[in-house]
Amino acid sequence: MNNPKPKIPIISGFSKLNREERIKLLKKILDKEYDIMPWLNAWQHPDSEIHAAFEGFSENYITSYHIPFGVVPNMVINGRNYLVPMVIEESSVIAAASRSAKFWSQNGGFKAKIMGTERKGQIHFTWQGDSLWLKENFAMITTRMLEATHSTTRKMQERGGGITTMNLLDKTYAIRDYYQVDISFETADAMGANFINTCLEEMAQSLQNFLAGYPDKGLAEIIMSILSNYTPNSLVRCTVECDISKLEKVSGGMSPEAFVRKFELANQIARADVSRAVTHNKGIYNGVDAVVLATGNDWRAVEACGHAYAASGGSYGALTEVSIEDEIFKYTLNLPIAIGTVGGLTKSHPLAKLALEILGNPGAKELMMIAAAAGMANNFSAITALITSGIQQGHMKMHLPNILKQLNATEKEEDAVINHFADRQVSHAAVEAFIKILRDTHGA
Ligand code: MEV
Repeated sequence: MNNPKPKIPIISGFSKLNREERIKLLKKILDKEYDIMPWLNAWQHPDSEIHAAFEGFSENYITSYHIPFGVVPNMVINGRNYLVPMVIEESSVIAAASRSAKFWSQNGGFKAKIMGTERKGQIHFTWQGDSLWLKENFAMITTRMLEATHSTTRKMQERGGGITTMNLLDKTYAIRDYYQVDISFETADAMGANFINTCLEEMAQSLQNFLAGYPDKGLAEIIMSILSNYTPNSLVRCTVECDISKLEKVSGGMSPEAFVRKFELANQIARADVSRAVTHNKGIYNGVDAVVLATGNDWRAVEACGHAYAASGGSYGALTEVSIEDEIFKYTLNLPIAIGTVGGLTKSHPLAKLALEILGNPGAKELMMIAAAAGMANNFSAITALITSGIQQGHMKMHLPNILKQLNATEKEEDAVINHFADRQVSHAAVEAFIKILRDTHGA
């Protein structure tokens, strides 16, 4: 029988409670007769300094949530062999990436190229006044805004970054009196969110001050200033290519020519059909997100940007392209991604720090290329499986231990199940039925 839903009161000042008080309250709400504190404590790192750091990462902390951390070997990117850390809960992702990585390591590896690293930010404001005057004075406003960020940008400039362009956009065609200052940044090895947002707020204040000095020309109101996670010009292009005949190794008994034809069609479908495209791109983000998360980066920003980019042509489509020329199969992924290797959690989360160490402490550009190669590795495996044996065979085999756990299988039952399903299709229902037979025959 399902547990009844807990009755949850409106709680004031939850964040002001200490961790122990929060857990006590939770215990009361969940109506647990046993003490959940030791159980929750067990998920925390035994080193008190480390778990104190985790406690500091987020509000209303009660414990730490574990997700598997694995590594993909044999990822050859631009001629260099990487061991790629991935943090992911889906059981078949690391196996799928590893299969691709091994295949491509023997066929030229992944070739990745940075097409740009531009970051974006915007000051959204309204101006009820003389539009022409505003535009004519924008050069002077720009100088003032740049001066206002001087102490913030100085350090970033030393690292090769800073503010690169500033444009005034008249958006009054969309919303009455609405203008925008659209600003581009370079942030070196940082993702740059804090740097960008600090600069934007300083610039917005300076803009407000400047315009307030000309009340006869109009009235300005700053609506908000924030970075944009849409970074189409922070782009990496990742490619794999090989002679078609080499694909026999992964073509599942089909001729390499038939395999390539089906692969190309599968990609065309994902470029033409939004329902398929979302799943196709999700398979890419299985790899990308796992690297982004392992290295302490913001995977929500990466996902949001990628999906907007996938729709930038007017309809949502696959991020990949296939070309077949002179018996050469070429597969390309265009991935917009703004991530960093300094700042944020990259050094303060011990496992993110380790992940970066495993990768040889790359800079941001190198990490962009690694994440793209991981995405391509996962996607290549997924499409290969989909057009040959289907996805479930491999996926469910990897999922089998989870099913056995859910069914409370004993060690003996596990062995029998693994033997029985070695050459059979795995499904939750089939495993459950088989265990029932075992239990009915031998007694539980
Ligand atoms: C599952 O996590 C990902 C796939 O659905 C991707 C795809 O269909 O291309 C297998």
